[in-house]
Amino acid sequence: MFSKIKSVGLLGLESYMLDVELNITGGKFSIEIVGLPDTAVSEAKERIMAAISNSGYEMHMTSHHTFNLAPADVKKEGSVYDLPMAVAVLSATKQIRGDYKESVFIGELSLSGTVKSIKGVLPMVIASKEHGVKDIYVPFDNCEEAAVIDGINVYGVKSLKELVEHINDVNKLKPVEVKPFKHYELPDYLPDFKDVKGQFEVKRALEVAAAGGHNVMMIGPPGSGKSMLAKRIPTILPDITVDEALETTKIYSLSGNLSKENPIINYRPFRAPHHSVSPAGLSGGGTIPKPGELSLAHNGVLFLDELPEFTRNTMEVLRQPIENGTITISRAACALTYPCSVMLICAMNPCPCGYFGHPTRKCSCPKNAPARYLSKVSGPLLDRLDIHIEVPPVDFNQLSDREESESSASIRERVNKARKIQLERFKGTNVTCNAKMTSSLTRKYCVLSETASKTLELSFEKLGLSARAYDKILKVARTIADLDGAENIENKHILEAIQYRSLDRKFWKADEEI
Ligand SMILES: Nc1ncnc2c1ncn2[C@@H]1O[C@H](COP(=O)(O)OP(=O)(O)O)[C@@H](O)[C@H]1O
Ligand SMILES: [Mg+2]
Repeated sequence: MFSKIKSVGLLGLESYMLDVELNITGGKFSIEIVGLPDTAVSEAKERIMAAISNSGYEMHMTSHHTFNLAPADVKKEGSVYDLPMAVAVLSATKQIRGDYKESVFIGELSLSGTVKSIKGVLPMVIASKEHGVKDIYVPFDNCEEAAVIDGINVYGVKSLKELVEHINDVNKLKPVEVKPFKHYELPDYLPDFKDVKGQFEVKRALEVAAAGGHNVMMIGPPGSGKSMLAKRIPTILPDITVDEALETTKIYSLSGNLSKENPIINYRPFRAPHHSVSPAGLSGGGTIPKPGELSLAHNGVLFLDELPEFTRNTMEVLRQPIENGTITISRAACALTYPCSVMLICAMNPCPCGYFGHPTRKCSCPKNAPARYLSKVSGPLLDRLDIHIEVPPVDFNQLSDREESESSASIRERVNKARKIQLERFKGTNVTCNAKMTSSLTRKYCVLSETASKTLELSFEKLGLSARAYDKILKVARTIADLDGAENIENKHILEAIQYRSLDRKFWKADEEI
């Protein structure tokens, strides 16, 4: 007896269609699984046997069962194939009839026959749709994840029995209703920019960064509010687009970070790993590598507080991915690439004691300590920061001011407007914001007025700005012009962008004296 059931496999975010083949021949009872299964796949035999008998169906106890998971040369992992394997048994033994040969099945079985949730359902549903599959059966607890996908019938299955009764036309299931994409509504209890007194320049810089997706370094003494400001960034980020949301949700689905209550990542993620995070924690890891913090922040923010406290190895991991927007993790089993287009926000004190450049307190560090402290951060990483802002301590008058500052909602409105201009500008390319412009796009869209061009030239000479600053200033100026609704980059836009290079102007130059 032979049967063939369709399923779908994942290698990272790459997917492939998979056939579960079963051959049953006479002899002693046994089950064998071939096609590079890992331990979890091999253990499926125990679950399938128990699930089938506890659901009231039968296995041939006097036959030899051979399962082949094709293509046979790709490593299979996890318990995803329990369900298609059980269906293959019921199909070969003619316990199910009906139209199921072109459908895809994924799900883990418990010994009692219930279908348990699995990781990666969204990318698997998308892949099946792309391969022209019409019906897919997934664990009931995962079906909400797939509800945003149009053009494929997704059935949420609670148990093997329920599935068999559906296929046998005894009790029909209904496909999940497609839900239109909705943006996450920020709850009122989130920290808001209106709680931050003073710090107008810093807030403006963060608004510019959010609008254009620019990487930021905040540098200032302890207690000046760096962490407080960073915590509020999610409330001013531009709305995530549908495509971005799906990409990010795929990563969360794969790493098992979705719940029934939050089946889709409809907001820009904000990840703030502690400085003790390992390089693999950032990049992703495992035998078949899973996404790390960098990828979990895809299309959102990666916040590194107290940057010099991160180990050098951890910082090195960031270098390429921040530049390329993707990270490739190589392991013995395979090399996988995950997207990680993030806005990097870093915060640090200016020196070990924290008071270098403080208006009232004296810095107790030896000479050159600030430059040496900064040099703990790898140069190439600093290179990738577009906006550097000094966060000065707030004075008492501002702190005791009872008036509320501008709210996050009102800042976000401007950010959204500026981001819409960018989405329109870069339509048809895979660039979504000014910070990610390639050099040819920068040349095309960062046209300077004559005075702006002169100002930039003069500042290079006067302030001794480095070549590394040039492109960054242009891109940031483009965002400032967008916030202003201006077609061309004018003098005031360039001037503001130059303001955001305090490391070049104040801290970096000291670096040459080390
Ligand atoms: N501008 C400000 N407005 C209101 N409170 C502030 C401000 N700056 C700092 N604070 C207060 O000081 C605390 C410490 O700030 P924090 O963000 O931890 O500083 P840092 O990270 O720079 O060391 C905050 O939790 C907040 O209560
Ligand atoms: Mg802090």
